[in-house]
Amino acid sequence: MGNFIDLVKTRRSVRSFDGNGIEPQLLNELKSYAEESTNPYDIKVRFEFLDAAANGLSSPVITGEKNYVSAVVSKVDHAEEAYGYSFQKLLMKAHELGLGTVWLGGTMPREKFEKASDLKNDEIMPCVSPLGVAAKKMSIKESLMRKGVKADSRMKFEELFFVGDFSKPLDERYANENGLFDDLEAVRLAPSAVNKQPWRIVVDGKKAHFFEKHDKGYLTPSYDLQKIDVGIALYNFEVQMLEECRTPVLSVEKPSFKVPEGIDYIATYTF
Ligand SMILES: Cc1cc2nc3c(=O)[nH]c(=O)nc-3n(C[C@H](O)[C@H](O)[C@H](O)COP(=O)(O)O)c2cc1C
Repeated sequence: MGNFIDLVKTRRSVRSFDGNGIEPQLLNELKSYAEESTNPYDIKVRFEFLDAAANGLSSPVITGEKNYVSAVVSKVDHAEEAYGYSFQKLLMKAHELGLGTVWLGGTMPREKFEKASDLKNDEIMPCVSPLGVAAKKMSIKESLMRKGVKADSRMKFEELFFVGDFSKPLDERYANENGLFDDLEAVRLAPSAVNKQPWRIVVDGKKAHFFEKHDKGYLTPSYDLQKIDVGIALYNFEVQMLEECRTPVLSVEKPSFKVPEGIDYIATYTF
């Protein structure tokens, strides 16, 4: 992988494609990458590469796409975190290869995608993404959507990150002085459903505790979409740490400090 933080900074959701589809060689490269993909939870995420026309697939927010990829996982503990991590890994690879993507968890005909993905009873398919080369110009629909969710803005360090416990915000200066700026920036700039940025991190020495701040409307009977967002954050943080030659190790060991209402513990990286 090139310079990961630059890839994070140059990624954006792409909803308008050039109408030409993907070079077979690129598609094969992505398929092999998807086959070998793992995550710290060791939960298999199955990827299905789908031809849009052959499967009658489309989305009301996407134009000019010829291909989709869907991601499927068994309904097990930590499925969402593993799912967010693994799908983000694949979508960042696509970005590195010059392809545009966008996580779609709502604005697609779900049943058609589930059928095309051969979804089993014990499986869930929370999201899909189109894959292709971005159009030179965004569709009007896409520009309006980006404005609607303020897609180009993110919360500040001190709103998302904390030192020791939730009472002490972590600012950019602290992040810089403690060599954590790019690691936290990689989380801050990650994509999330409706750009809600539900991830919260409490840094305590060589530990980064990840939490999920719940918003209303993201819990379905089968999965929690915002937990997938935190899985995305875990991936971005880990890869940036690895680029800095650190050795982040994931564990689930709830810390003892007080956690505010509406916030749930997810996992800890020790680095
Ligand atoms: C789990 C998840 C689900 C999403 N679902 C949708 C969706 O259904 N439709 C859509 O247009 N964008 C969807 N998005 C994209 C977000 O709106 C987008 O990531 C966010 O606005 C930030 O913009 P950016 O990705 O360009 O940085 C989703 C993103 C995530 C992570």
